[in-house]
Formats: sequence, structure tokens, C-alpha cells
Amino acid sequence: MRPPRSLSSRLIVYWIVGSALAYFSLPVAIRISFAALGLGEFRDENLESWTTKRARYIVQAALREGPDGRKFIEPTDELRGYMRRNPEFRFAAIDVETGAVLPGSSEELATAFAPSTRVDMLTISFHMADDPNPNARGWVRTIGTAIGDMRFVLYGAYFRPEDLFYNLSYTLTIRNFFVYLPFCGVLTLIAFVVVRRGLAPLRAAAGAAASIDVNSLKERIPSADLPSEIAPFVEAVNHALARVDDGVARQRRFLANAAHELRTPITILCAHIANPDDATFRRDVKRDARRIRTIVEQLLSMAHVDNQKGGVESETDLGNVALSVILSYMPLTIENGRNIELEQPSAPVIVRADRWAVESILTNLIENAVRAEPKGGAVLVRVHGDARIDVVDHGDGVALEDRDAIFEPFWRKSDATRGAGLGLAVAKELMDKLDGRIWVEETSGGGATFKLSFRSERAFVAQSPSANAVL
Ligand SMILES: Nc1ncnc2c1ncn2[C@@H]1O[C@H](COP(=O)(O)OP(=O)(O)OP(=O)(O)O)[C@@H](O)[C@H]1O
Ligand SMILES: [Mg+2]
Repeated sequence: MRPPRSLSSRLIVYWIVGSALAYFSLPVAIRISFAALGLGEFRDENLESWTTKRARYIVQAALREGPDGRKFIEPTDELRGYMRRNPEFRFAAIDVETGAVLPGSSEELATAFAPSTRVDMLTISFHMADDPNPNARGWVRTIGTAIGDMRFVLYGAYFRPEDLFYNLSYTLTIRNFFVYLPFCGVLTLIAFVVVRRGLAPLRAAAGAAASIDVNSLKERIPSADLPSEIAPFVEAVNHALARVDDGVARQRRFLANAAHELRTPITILCAHIANPDDATFRRDVKRDARRIRTIVEQLLSMAHVDNQKGGVESETDLGNVALSVILSYMPLTIENGRNIELEQPSAPVIVRADRWAVESILTNLIENAVRAEPKGGAVLVRVHGDARIDVVDHGDGVALEDRDAIFEPFWRKSDATRGAGLGLAVAKELMDKLDGRIWVEETSGGGATFKLSFRSERAFVAQSPSANAVL
């Protein structure tokens, strides 16, 4: 059965079940504990008294009074069963008023106690002097029954675990139930009021949350008056709001920058189209179109990265990807008087990453490095066996203060450069998605060295001595 959705109802149901269990079984549990601990002042609460009580109830249920007023014991099935299980058990019932021993009583016990009718025996424990069992105990107790005050003499009943359950059943009486009912009612009411009052600030918080939309992401849900159990949840929602706010602000900045970046080449393109007779018309238009295409491609890969969810499943060989990117750049690079070299271990370096992602990262780094490399120089791509890659050039390098900024979208050292300033931002975003790291250092002797480190848990690295393959 599903629990009710309302917290108050749930609490009240648990409360009723829990309190009923406690109310009806706690007295028994407490008395057992006292008995087990053997506390002196609770002498009466030993396990033997449980047994005697049960035995007395059974005998008491067998008392009868005939139409002529004669009182006697008529063994019930329960009494017979009890005696079968306790062969040493004997009992006697003596009418306190008349001193008469009720027929059905044990003669031995009756003669031992009948003469003492003039003594008020409330509760007495005894041992029959001629009983060879030194542990055997008897109890005398005078109780008012339906047929008058009776002195019960019980002997030889030994404790059995089921006596506990038997005694437990005595607490489940109609009378106890009617005592419990108002008690439970009052506490249920208190529980209901406490829950309603306790949750009132939550209702206020829900009202505040309902008014937050994409234009009011700076607002936060007030958590000051909330109960301490709920406050962490609302604070977590506030943190989530802050992250969403950050994300939305970043997207808006990105959109504004993207529009700005596209506007410049489009304006230039329009100007060129307005003068189709210029000698350089075709070359200019081609260059403008290429620039627009580059920006759009980078924007698309940025969007592609953003849409990627976590949990990359495929495995990629870093050396293999590096080689294929280098090969695609080689003709143009050589044409421009530069070279690219690849160093990689002889064994594959496998990481858990999508091939297109590693390709995109390396393409951006190699493209930048080739652009920065002075004529006649060589860019070096070094793949390490521990899932790291260095892309080394010997250009101007990246100033210390720019080493974080270069990974921001649209950041460029100068507007004169051709790109949109998105390549490194895409690479960083992808490395973050792969739980890896990207950073830039200085090449010894001058230039920039971009370093990639893929997460080692994700790497299945075949360690082997580095064998260089230089292209
Ligand atoms: N190897 C490098 N050496 C020196 N500066 C670099 C190097 N790589 C990147 N930069 C600087 O970082 C800036 C940002 O690089 P990024 O790749 O993000 O953009 P971009 O190359 O200008 O344009 P895009 O890659 O979007 O076509 C570059 O404009 C350049 O100023
Ligand atoms: Mg670039």
C-alpha cells in the first residue's frame, strides 16, 4: 500500500500505529526489562509472577457457581491444556467469606491454606517443605471474582516464554482501548497542528518560487524562516537557480558576442558586394564568406558540445586521432613553409572519449599552433603514454596574464586575427565534458605549449617505451 502523499496524514498514520504499539506493549516491555535486570524494588516483577498471573487467570476462568449457590471449579479446556503442559502444577481456590475449599482444588494445598481464612493473605509466595525441588514456588493471592472474594493457591507453575504473550493480551482490553482513544486523539491533533504550522513557511516559499521565471532568475526563495529540515532543500534550489542564472547569462553573452562577430564580416561582405567591379572583388568575397563560415562552424560545434550529455561510452586512440588531424593539415602547412611532427608511443593510448571530440580539440590546437609557428619551423604534437598530449609551437607564446582568458569564448589577442576566438573555448568545454584538463605553458626557448590531460581513470593506457614517429 502506498503511504498517503500528505505529510500530515502520513505522520498521523505513523503516530497512531506507533503510539498504539507503544501504549499496549510498552508496559510489558518495561516489566520484562525490570525483571531481567532483577531490580530489588521490582521483586514482584520477576518472570515467575507472569507465570503465576497467567495460571491464576486460567483457574479463575474455571470458577463456577451452581443454581443452588454452590461454588466449584470446573476444569476448562484451557485449564486442562495448561496442566498437561505443566505436570507439576496444582491449585486450590478457597472462598474467603466461608472458608470453603472449592471442589476441584488440590487437597494438599487446600489443607495447607484453608485454616488461615482469618488471615488476610494478599500476596504470599511459599515453598512446600516436603517438595524435593528446591526451586518450586507457590503463590497465594486473594482476588475479588465474579462469585466473591477468592484466595487462590497456585503451586509448581514454571515460566514459559509464551506466558509473556499471554500477559500481553491482558493489556489489549476494551477498557485500555478507551483510555488510549482520547489520549491518541489529543496527540494526533497536536501532530496535525504542528505539521501545518511547521509547513506554513514552505507554502510561502512555494509562492515565491512560483513567481520566478527566466526574467527574474536573480530572485531567490527566502529560506530564513524555514524549519531546519526543509531549509537545505530550499537552499539547494537557490543554488540551482544561481547556476541556471549563470548559464543563462553566459548564453546571452555568447549570443550577443556571436551576433557581433558575425555582423562585422557581413558588413564587410555587403560593402564588397556593393562594389562588384573592384579588381579584388572575387578574392574579398571569398575571404569574407570563409570567415563567416568559420565562425558559423565554431558556433555549431559550441552548440554541439553544449547539447552533449555526460557518459561517454566510446574509446579512442589518441595517437591515431593525432595522426589523422596532422595528415589533413599537412599539405596546407607545407605549402606555407611549416612542418608538423608527431611523437607517440608504439602502443595505442586509449581513452574513453568520442573520437569526434578529440578530433575537434586537436584540430583547434593544431590550427592555432600552425598559425603561430614562424616560417620554416615545425609544430610538435607529442602523445604521452599516460593519456596526455602536448601541442608545441615556437611562436610568440601566450602572456602569463592571458593564459586563462584565451579559453573564454570570443577572446582574441587582437581583432586583426582571422578567427572568431571560439576554438579554445570549444576545446576547453569538450575537455571539461571528458573530465580532462587543458592549459597552456611556455615552450622552452619561446612559444606556446598547449597541454591536454585526459582523466586517468578513463584512460586505458598501454604503457610502453616511447617510440617516436616523426613525420
Ligand atoms: N598557439 C598560440 N600561440 C599564441 N597565441 C595563441 C595560440 N593559440 C591561441 N592563441 C590566442 O588565443 C586566441 C583565441 O584562440 P581561439 O582558437 O579560441 O580563437 P581563434 O583561433 O582566434 O578563432 P577560431 O579558433 O574560433 O577560429 C587567439 O586569437 C590567439 O590570440
Ligand atoms: Mg583557433
